[in-house]
Amino acid sequence: MNAPPLARLAVLISGRGRNLMALHAAVADGRIPATIVAVISNRADAGGLHFAAEAGLPCFVLPHVDYSDRAAFDRALAETLRPLQADIVVLAGFMRILTESFVREFEGRMLNIHPSLLPRHKGLHTHASALRDGDAEHGATVHFVTPQLDGGPCVIQGKFTIGAHDDAAKLAERVMDEVELKIYPQAVAWMARGELRFEQGSAAFRGRPLPEPLSLDDLEPGFR
Ligand code: GAR
Repeated sequence: MNAPPLARLAVLISGRGRNLMALHAAVADGRIPATIVAVISNRADAGGLHFAAEAGLPCFVLPHVDYSDRAAFDRALAETLRPLQADIVVLAGFMRILTESFVREFEGRMLNIHPSLLPRHKGLHTHASALRDGDAEHGATVHFVTPQLDGGPCVIQGKFTIGAHDDAAKLAERVMDEVELKIYPQAVAWMARGELRFEQGSAAFRGRPLPEPLSLDDLEPGFR
């Protein structure tokens, strides 16, 4: 029997690329049955591009400042993605609001990670917002991307208790280390294996709609 073909991942970044690095590590050691066909950045100075180039990943830079408006940028992004035939478009710290027509084209095969316990704290400055609101817990969420900003169906959420000495910088670090670097490779692995799907507007896991997001307790041993 031939092994099923590897899923094709396109990873979109704007910043340091720590999620990209975790995804690459999980692809390299076989935990994610996939190949990274492209790393695309809207910023030429994104730190993650250095890593991607050194790792030999195909890189594309589309500076959003070169486009007249959001729709023009999104058209160029779609034109870059289309020939890559990505099975999964992974937004990994991609700091762009996407137009509805772009999202519709890739809906169902596009995931995002957001540094909060959605639906709490959509948008920017999530760590400061959690502190301002006196939240007891904080974390990150992987969700399918729909036209509603940070509003698509949640797949997995990792949370921890906010400590008395946690400031916004410390929370950012904890969210990344304790949650994001674990839940994103896991979610992408599930999707690459066909265990996670977008069905009728909901996240379906192993054939059933998810009544609530999966949690850190659901991580497989290789992703903990
Ligand atoms: C991550 O914390 C991610 O959740 C956040 O940007 C950071 C990217 O870090 N994304 C968003 O805020 C999206 N709204 P990285 O470039 O080191 O992976």
